[in-house]
Amino acid sequence: MSAIAAVVLAAGAGTRMKSAKPKVMHEVGGRPMISHLLGTVGALDPAKVVVVTSPNMETVQKEVAPAEIAIQQEALGTGHAVAAALDSLAGFSGDVLILYGDTPLIEAETLRKMIAKRRESAKCAVVVLGFEPDDPLEYGRLVTDANGNLTAIVEFADANAEERAVGLCNSGVMAIDAAHLADLIKAVDNKNAKGEYYLTDIVEIAIKRGLTCAYVKGAEDELLGVNNRAQLAEAEAIAQSRWRAAAMTAGATLIDPETVWFSHDTKLGRDVVIEPGVFFGPGVTVGDNVRIKAYSHLEGTTIGEKSQIGPFARLRPGAEIAGDVKIGNFVEVKKSQIETGAKVSHLSYIGDARIGAEANIGAGTITCNYDGYDKFKTDIGAGAFIGSNTALVAPVKVGDGAIVGAGSTISKDVAADALGIERAEEKQKAGWAKRFRDLKKKVRK
Ligand code: UD1
Ligand code: CA
Repeated sequence: MSAIAAVVLAAGAGTRMKSAKPKVMHEVGGRPMISHLLGTVGALDPAKVVVVTSPNMETVQKEVAPAEIAIQQEALGTGHAVAAALDSLAGFSGDVLILYGDTPLIEAETLRKMIAKRRESAKCAVVVLGFEPDDPLEYGRLVTDANGNLTAIVEFADANAEERAVGLCNSGVMAIDAAHLADLIKAVDNKNAKGEYYLTDIVEIAIKRGLTCAYVKGAEDELLGVNNRAQLAEAEAIAQSRWRAAAMTAGATLIDPETVWFSHDTKLGRDVVIEPGVFFGPGVTVGDNVRIKAYSHLEGTTIGEKSQIGPFARLRPGAEIAGDVKIGNFVEVKKSQIETGAKVSHLSYIGDARIGAEANIGAGTITCNYDGYDKFKTDIGAGAFIGSNTALVAPVKVGDGAIVGAGSTISKDVAADALGIERAEEKQKAGWAKRFRDLKKKVRK
């Protein structure tokens, strides 16, 4: 079997995004578009992956490592971009897939179909992936002859009214026989409406040389090209609906799927229930039988089995929640270990802390972890009970089984099984309230 190489174009200016960052770094499900694509390409086990970037795209170059980078000095068009990758492909024989970094939703199966089609005939130099979008917008159009063979791709800017009426569009994805690639690319010129070197011209060039071109059709929801923010949101919507369906197939209940937002890497156990309005940022792993209640926001966190989170909980990076834990409403947890069976039920901030097994953290407890310069740790032992509205001034330790009185500001360690309490003495003045009210009434008459 012959090999596959992939060339991913990412050097375009992305002007229509109106952004300081390269278009392909814009994220879908918390992951740059280009990385989605490289993940998919990886499934084909390619012999070589080359990413074409412009010279100043360090962020892209870093993101795509260890893929090979080819630099396109100036963004003079997609054909010119492929030319920049030719040196990297020297000596390669097999099929070269050309992909656009702004078309992140394509699936590996579709790429396999293209490769299979290319290999049906030795004369077939180019296979193009076409699709029929509901609204063809400014996509290039595939021109076919009476037998349905592909004869040309016409860019929207260059198309006449008849060509613009064609519903079959160019997704940008191509499979090209490496034996012909360099010859075809070198023959592309820039005599067109945009003055660009169009990759799409290689179809007509191949046919002039006695080779043939073919197309396969793909699904619109895989082939959306992201040129602006509205299309970025469309890509996000497509990816989210795939992830929601996959989560349910794998055994999670989503009470209102449309309102749950996943990250590309969210991992859910079985019999997880997710209530409406939950948002998953990157790096979340949820164990079996966990319930995540409405309007919770989670990122960079692992949750052990049977825990209950929310409603309105915020779990930030480094929150390690063990099993049977309860994190209740308006609780924020950051970079902390919450051990088995512990409860933080209401209105707390837990940062840089360890909460021991079965400990109970009262409403309004705050770990004061930051002095404006450095962060410090709070360590709460197993079975400890922290009374409501306690400020724990880190670094500080509360031993196993200790109790902290409500309203305390604890800045010294509390020994195991001790009571730690910091509270001004309470005074009572008998009859004071009644005298106060009587005085007020008299003054107002
Ligand atoms: C391109 C196709 C069009 C197709 C559409 C599908 C051409 C000439 N046109 O148009 O037929 O319907 O994609 O989405 O190919 N790039 C470079 N260097 C450049 C120019 C572009 O690397 O000099 C990269 C971009 O970063 C992008 C991709 O190539 O990832 C496509 O470029 P873009 O300008 O978005 O092409 P479209 O106008 O969308
Ligand atoms: Ca595009």
